[in-house]
This record gives sequence, C-alpha cells and structure tokens, in this order.
Amino acid sequence: MSGVPATAIYGTGGYVPAKKLTNDDFIRFLDTSDEWITTRTGIKERRIAAPEEATSDLCVPAARQAIENAQIPPDEIDMIIVGTITPDHFFPSASCLVQQKLGLTAREIPCFDVSAACSGFIYALSTARAYVAAGMARNVLVIGAEILSRLLDYTDRTTCILFGDGAGAVVVGPQRQNGPSHRILSTSLHADGGGADMLMIPAGGSRRPTTHATVDERLHYVRLDGREVFRFGVTKVCEIISRLMKEHNLTASDIGAIVPHQANIRIIESAADRLNLPLDLFITNIAKYGNTSSASVPIALDEASRAGRLPKGKPIIMLAFGAGMTWSSAVIEW
Ligand code: ACO
Repeated sequence: MSGVPATAIYGTGGYVPAKKLTNDDFIRFLDTSDEWITTRTGIKERRIAAPEEATSDLCVPAARQAIENAQIPPDEIDMIIVGTITPDHFFPSASCLVQQKLGLTAREIPCFDVSAACSGFIYALSTARAYVAAGMARNVLVIGAEILSRLLDYTDRTTCILFGDGAGAVVVGPQRQNGPSHRILSTSLHADGGGADMLMIPAGGSRRPTTHATVDERLHYVRLDGREVFRFGVTKVCEIISRLMKEHNLTASDIGAIVPHQANIRIIESAADRLNLPLDLFITNIAKYGNTSSASVPIALDEASRAGRLPKGKPIIMLAFGAGMTWSSAVIEW
C-alpha cells in the first residue's frame, strides 16, 4: 500500500503466564524425550495459563504495558482489535472483555477479534493501520493472544509438545514527532483456503457441533499435518523475505532484524540457510515459549525491543503463517 498516510507503532507489551511446562515434564505421561523435542523443534519449555486465566486476562497486562510504552493516556485508545483463535467464548469477543477489564467502556469504542490463526496479530496490525490511514481511528490497541493449552490433546505427542500460552500488544497510530513512533512501511496479508485441512480443530463449531461422540473421538483438539505445515512454513518464510527484500530494495545488511512466527526453530534455520541470511538476524524465543500462535510475533517483538535488538532507523521484518492457511508480513522502520 504505497501512498497511505504514515502510520506507526508507538509502544509494545507482552505477558506470559508464570507456570512453565518443560520437556521433561511431558516424560511423566507421554512417550517422548527432551532430546526429541529439542532437536526436532527447538522448544525447551512453554508457559501454561493458570486454571482461572482466560485469553482476555492474558491480554490485559500486555495491553497496559504497550499503552504505557506508547506514552498515551489509556482513554485515548479508540479501537481494540485482538488476533486470537482461543477467545474466552465464541461470543462475546475477547476484545470486548479486554475493553471492559481495561476500564475503556466510557467512550463506547469499537472492539473486535480477528481470526487468522498464527497470522492473527499481523492481520490485526494491518487492519489497525488501514483504519488509522483512513482517518477512521487514531490510537488502536492491537493484541495477539492465545491459550492454546486448552485445545491440545495431551495424549497426542505430535501436537501437544508444540504450543504454549501468552499475549503481546502494540499501539498503532499516525506517525508522530513526540514520543516513540516506529513507522509502518508496509503490511501484506494472504490466504489459501485450499489448505484448510492441514491444521484445524475438527469439532465444536457449526460443521460438527459438540456431542458426546465428538468429545469421545477427541475432535475438539488441534489436528495438524506436521510435515505439510513444516514444508508450507519454510516455503512461505522464504517467499515473504525474498519478496520484501525486493520490494523495499534491501540487502541483508540493511535489515535491522527479522521477527518470524515461532513455530519450529528448524523452519527458521532452513529459511536462513536457503536465503543465505545470518541466523542471528532472526529473533527467536521458541525455546522458552513454544508456538504461541498469534501471540508469538508480538511477544518476540516486545522482548527484542526491550533487549535493544531492534536497531533504530533500520527496517524490521515481521512475518507469520498459520491455519487457513494464512500468511502475512509487516515492515517497520524501528
Ligand atoms: N516425541 C517423540 N517422538 C515423536 C514425537 C514426540 N513428541 N512426535 C512425533 N514423534 C515421532 C513420530 O511418531 C514419528 O515416529 P515414526 O517414525 O515411528 O512414525 C517420528 O517421531 C517422526 O515424526 P515426524 O512427524 O516425521 O517428525 P518431524 O521431524 O516432521 O517433526 C513436527 C514433527 C515437530 C510436528 C514437525 O513436523 C513440525 O514442526 N511441523 C510444523 C509444525 C508447526 O509449524 N506447527 C505449528 C502449526 S502452524 C501454526 O503455527 C498455526
């Protein structure tokens, strides 16, 4: 989208639950090993929400931090978008619950969720950018948050070891002179519904409503064709980065950092290798959190920002892929 009024990320925030589930913890109830999980995925541990926590609860501390870092009064937020596939309920949306928990109901601002699986945060970011660029919103709170641990079959070793819980947030507004402002140079969103069967939860929706039989067949849990998703991931990560380098006229040394969706360290390593890019250009935290779906990119962005790993003035590439299949990217001048 060239020629759109300049929009920017003002501040970032992140939150992960305190409880850690390590690879060794799985050995107590599953035929697996720390060695298998580490070498095949790069994951060492993941965070698991407390029983009383729902997705909107994870959003709140991440959102508060992002608003504080954005240096704007909370009541100047005039839209909330949450990217999630694990909302507290089918309805109301997680974003309405976040609005209520943040005490932002007085101005009756619009709040809605975006469902794009692991691409959810970048889909939400791009939507916020469009609203701000059109002059239809000023300060948009954008959150990626998931509690995937509630949708995992802990008897299925091929899926349950992969995912974790968490939330990340940013505030998006018009490019400004005063206060932090990281300009959004581009966003792009894509989907191919032909890949819908690769990664899904088969029952519990309108296609196969919940019955005793669907519960007995364990159809309310994540089903994943691991090898196909792996191939898809490597292809899309490579495609996205090469296209963005061309479109933005970037060489490897121009890029400040790449913040990829954290699905499997081998996907990131393969992409770096194929693109001949140094691995340390990629921000990774998968060892600590596993795959947190739509929360993975904003949590990694927030951590990288705090750790001073995002060089000022350089382009940062964020990218994600997930169920749908969907894929997405954003380039930010940090
Ligand atoms: N512990 C021990 N052995 C295991 C485990 C485990 N946790 N899981 C699978 N195995 C076994 C399999 O049963 C298989 O055994 P077999 O050869 O006797 O049949 C063997 O290990 C190899 O299995 P593969 O599925 O071929 O293993 P692979 O190297 O492909 O790794 C994995 C599997 C980790 C799921 C990988 O395919 C992957 O990461 N795929 C992408 C997943 C992904 O990105 N998911 C995120 C979803 S996308 C999104 O983010 C929404």
